[in-house]
Amino acid sequence: MNIILMGLPGAGKGTQGERIVEEFMIPHISTGDMFRAAIREETAMGLQAKSYMDEGKLVPDEVVIGIVKERLAKPDCEKGFMLDGFPRTLPQAEALDATLKDLGRTIDHVINIDVDRSILLDRLTGRRICKSCGSTYHVVFNPPAQEGVCDKCGGELYQRSDDNEETVATRLDVNIEQSAPLLKYYDEKGLLRNINGQQDINLVFEDIAKLLRGQS
Ligand code: AP5
Repeated sequence: MNIILMGLPGAGKGTQGERIVEEFMIPHISTGDMFRAAIREETAMGLQAKSYMDEGKLVPDEVVIGIVKERLAKPDCEKGFMLDGFPRTLPQAEALDATLKDLGRTIDHVINIDVDRSILLDRLTGRRICKSCGSTYHVVFNPPAQEGVCDKCGGELYQRSDDNEETVATRLDVNIEQSAPLLKYYDEKGLLRNINGQQDINLVFEDIAKLLRGQS
């Protein structure tokens, strides 16, 4: 099963993505996570990406396309994959089509987690992430049992450097502008399905799982 998970920053791609890959046993390919790993490792690509991410802007297409192409060619993607946060521009979508054509693959589902901009600021500024296992929490909407500590592995929770109010506002503007033509692109291909992302986290997952199992 080959899936693209779309949604504005804070819509719940990471939260639902964790559950989807666990349920359907496919690799989770998050371009944001790949860039954050490259930043931690201080690679040249990481340093280049950091300047864009810190400002809430998109990393240039050629950089993103290169890392996704490389990742999709790895053997674990043969059984399927879930792309989270890619593609985000039309050139990225076209490059993905070309890459998949070369690999003899196609996209089965494009899921857009639909959430109104007005509630995304609170979601992002209250987000906390586990330093060890990457699990996502929210100080109000999805708090850990013990403040600052991951329920799953006991790791320390931290706040992403781009989750401050100013950067979040830019991220939302940039992503709203880029996502409209992309949603149209996948809608015209008959692949796009919108999911109401303003429900409880478990209900959002139920809707996604039904769709992926062909029950809706
Ligand atoms: P990336 O890491 O992909 O960030 P993003 O798209 O901004 O999305 P987020 O990870 O912030 O949000 P999410 O939808 O995963 O929400 P989450 O589940 O955590 O990208 C970061 C940067 O990298 C970009 O700005 C860009 O610079 C660069 N980049 C990445 N990909 C790129 C690309 N393809 N091209 C160019 N540049 C790229 O949820 C958010 C919070 O809400 C959490 O606290 C969660 O607990 C809570 N929550 C989730 N669901 C619910 C719910 N239903 N109800 C209540 N709370 C909820």
